Amino acid sequence: MLGRVNHIALVVPNLAEAAAKYRSVLGAAVTAPDALPEHGVSVVFVTLENTKVELLEPLGSDSPIAAFLAKNPAGGMHHICYEVEDIIAARDSLVAAGGRVLGDGQPKIGAHGKPVLFLHPKDFFGTLIELEQV
Ligand code: CO
Repeated sequence: MLGRVNHIALVVPNLAEAAAKYRSVLGAAVTAPDALPEHGVSVVFVTLENTKVELLEPLGSDSPIAAFLAKNPAGGMHHICYEVEDIIAARDSLVAAGGRVLGDGQPKIGAHGKPVLFLHPKDFFGTLIELEQV
């Protein structure tokens, strides 16, 4: 079912500082910040040869990552995104196996314009998983 790792997402308390550190200390290529109000985040992408890392900072008062940052004030790994070919087939087989999909179970259009779903972290060893159809 799983294809490549599409991205790994880290929540950070200060996006400009995190971007600068990835650039200067780790020598990584980092994109310009992008505000995504419909997702409640500001984001930069650390572009790597084989995948990308998203650095996320809360945007707005009801950001979906605000609670995570309150619990993890220094930041932390938020989710890992795996690619799937058919997100409906992936969802149906996960649900049949007892897995829980967050929200109403319908794929939403994610930050990259592709359909995504999130799987309950308690079903996957404490890690929030995002599935993205490619
Ligand atoms: Co993501």
